[in-house]
Amino acid sequence: MEERQRSLENLGLTMTGLEAYGGKRVLVTGHTGFKGSWLCTWLEKLGAEVTGIALAPNTEPSHFALLNTRMKSHLLDIRDRDALLHAVKQADPEIVFHLAAQPLVRASYADPYETYTSNVTGTLNVLDACRACDDLRAIVVITTDKVYDNREWEWAYRENDALGGHDPYSSSKACVELLCNSWRMSFFNPAGYGSDHNVLLATTRAGNVVGGGDWAVDRLIPDIVKATVGGEEVEIRNPRATRPWQHVLEPLAGYLQLGVRLINGEREFASAWNFSPDNLEGCDVISVVHSMQAIWPAVHYRIKQDEHAPHEAMLLRLDNAKARTRLGWRPQWNADATFRETIRWYRAWYEERTVLTTQQIEEYERLITQTAEVD
Ligand SMILES: NC(=O)c1ccc[n+]([C@@H]2O[C@H](COP(=O)([O-])OP(=O)(O)OC[C@H]3O[C@@H](n4cnc5c(N)ncnc54)[C@H](O)[C@@H]3O)[C@@H](O)[C@H]2O)c1
Repeated sequence: MEERQRSLENLGLTMTGLEAYGGKRVLVTGHTGFKGSWLCTWLEKLGAEVTGIALAPNTEPSHFALLNTRMKSHLLDIRDRDALLHAVKQADPEIVFHLAAQPLVRASYADPYETYTSNVTGTLNVLDACRACDDLRAIVVITTDKVYDNREWEWAYRENDALGGHDPYSSSKACVELLCNSWRMSFFNPAGYGSDHNVLLATTRAGNVVGGGDWAVDRLIPDIVKATVGGEEVEIRNPRATRPWQHVLEPLAGYLQLGVRLINGEREFASAWNFSPDNLEGCDVISVVHSMQAIWPAVHYRIKQDEHAPHEAMLLRLDNAKARTRLGWRPQWNADATFRETIRWYRAWYEERTVLTTQQIEEYERLITQTAEVD
């Protein structure tokens, strides 16, 4: 195995396949946000020429600001069609990762109009602008695990299950899935790839993502971190709600691997993909809080259930068999490792003002390489 790795290294290759991004022009929308800023760091590390389009960071601190990146950054609203088209044409991307969105369930109840226009009209504008890009080969649109018609049952949702969405956020993302499907049928149909057009389009549905550098409101891990650093108890709203928690690097690895297949022109990958952890043991909110306490004893909490709180799903599982078998993607970190790495990032930042992002990406890349060797 070592010999295989050495010979690949001599050829300048790693065993992850992600070296395909070297020198590629990549557009990431939502680069100032939590997932987008991790994705851009990884892409830059892979040698891509990255351009970002998003609003200015809306948290303080902001992971994007801490990274001090040299990437090209356009701060604009994706609902502004002309400004967006201009920036997309300037970036002239070969691949687009579309993450920009209003991503919070509770905020979507407070302002459904903002949520639908950013998520649906914004995506429409991005897809439409993509039609004007001559060198574009691939589009990866990030939706969510919440796009499914949630029946609150114990079975995991597969990519061909019905779409739905109770709250405006989930519904808006299900609309994005429908929109992408129409675009895939009408303009970027895999059957006409290479003759009528040169673009393959996929959508991705990942679970609740955690990791260092998220300071958004109304999210469990940032709430715990902020309260703990401030010496306070965190208020827990839904102790029994279960979610597919995963480290941010897990779905990002999936998006990147999927992107490589699309750039390579493998048309059978132009579809919807789940990226989720293998099982949900210990993944209700209260177990997560207890795991965090075991790693970081300063964490304290109190339950504050609100009978009048707007509806949020209680049970949500995704089936990752398609990504595992066809893409070769698999989760690398179980729940313990996920929370340990997350707390490690925050403590390094709060206690030493060290940003571990690049280091954690390198550690994670080593894991993917080892998995590829075993396979
Ligand atoms: N964080 C999670 O647990 C999670 C889970 C599933 C899916 N997602 C999806 O992943 C994507 C990124 O989420 P995140 O957690 O990084 O969110 P985030 O709030 O940290 O980042 C959102 C990004 O979108 C940009 N944005 C929002 N509205 C915009 C607009 N109108 N015009 C231009 N830019 C706009 C913001 O500026 C920011 O860069 C979203 O599409 C979200 O729905 C997130």
